[in-house]
Amino acid sequence: MYSIETKSLSKTFGNVKAVDDISFTVDSGEFFGFLGPNGAGKSTTMMILTTLLKPTSGLALVSGYNVVTQAKKVRQNIGYVQQETTVDEYLTGRENLILQARLNHISSDQINKRIDDVLNLIELSDKQNEPVVTYSGGMRKRLDIAGGLLHHPKVLFLDEPTVGLDIQTRRKIWEYIKKIHTEFGMTIFLTTHYMEEADQLCDRIGIIDYGKIQVIDSPKNMKNSVGNEILTLQIKDVDSRKSLISKLEKIQSISKITSDDDKITLFAPSGSDTIAEVFQLSSNLDIKIDTLSLKQPTLDDVFISYTGHEIRDEDSRFNRKHEHAKMKRLRA
Ligand SMILES: Nc1ncnc2c1ncn2[C@@H]1O[C@H](COP(=O)(O)OP(=O)(O)OP(=O)(O)O)[C@@H](O)[C@H]1O
Ligand SMILES: [Mg+2]
Repeated sequence: MYSIETKSLSKTFGNVKAVDDISFTVDSGEFFGFLGPNGAGKSTTMMILTTLLKPTSGLALVSGYNVVTQAKKVRQNIGYVQQETTVDEYLTGRENLILQARLNHISSDQINKRIDDVLNLIELSDKQNEPVVTYSGGMRKRLDIAGGLLHHPKVLFLDEPTVGLDIQTRRKIWEYIKKIHTEFGMTIFLTTHYMEEADQLCDRIGIIDYGKIQVIDSPKNMKNSVGNEILTLQIKDVDSRKSLISKLEKIQSISKITSDDDKITLFAPSGSDTIAEVFQLSSNLDIKIDTLSLKQPTLDDVFISYTGHEIRDEDSRFNRKHEHAKMKRLRA
């Protein structure tokens, strides 16, 4: 039995297809991640799996239970740490956990031990009796994660657990999440738009964009599948860029070409040979290349190769969502 299984899962809000015909499975004990930009449909999928939203169509099972018809059973088997922190600022860390424990119907004789254990695990024992208003963003997030562990869920859902935190804090939280996975051996389903986070934590990743899964594989296989080397050219002049792309498409040694803003990305088995050809072409066409770089594939490149664009951060949240809605309207 799979820990999570979806078949043709879809969720529509008005004319926006937030989740568009998604099918995937997650094995028991696996660390699985959804990697995608703002508005990709990550939280919507997670809210369906955690029974907070009903799908428009399709099927989803968690721990073998149907999220619509057996929602109560699903809730007993999962922990869910939402994207926004939910801890109460005016209670102490421990009081927040007591509240969580009671909401999860943990028996009174077990509450104290469970809380001591999770506080220890996320190293918040020292601060447990101080009000959360005095905690840093990272500590609040750790407390939130602790709250999701109290009832020892079989499946833990973490929605962008490190969003908005600085890189040092983010790395610390990754350590805690790894520790939790090792210690409890539960299935973890995480969403993120940080490449490094997906790369560091997940056994397998699904790349999600505009509500659709573009590919599912291990980070290692994904990087290998991109091809050997990646050549990025920046050409600011629009006409030059267009005319070069049309010529590049005819070069045999280039396996794939994508373009985004003023950048052209070329995937080729031998980058150095391709550079020579690109220089030849651009000089024949009298095109000025503003910058050029050659490197080994990373998960960022995997993302570009499957979606045709880079993952953008928070600041473009509005634009992406706006663009998404517009695209869906055009498709409809
Ligand atoms: N309640 C809602 N009503 C209308 N549209 C919604 C609602 N919730 C989500 N959407 C839309 O569905 C799409 C997917 O949103 P979702 O929150 O699932 O994305 P996400 O991948 O979690 O993004 P983020 O990284 O910003 O959290 C977006 O276009 C969003 O605007
Ligand atoms: Mg989200």
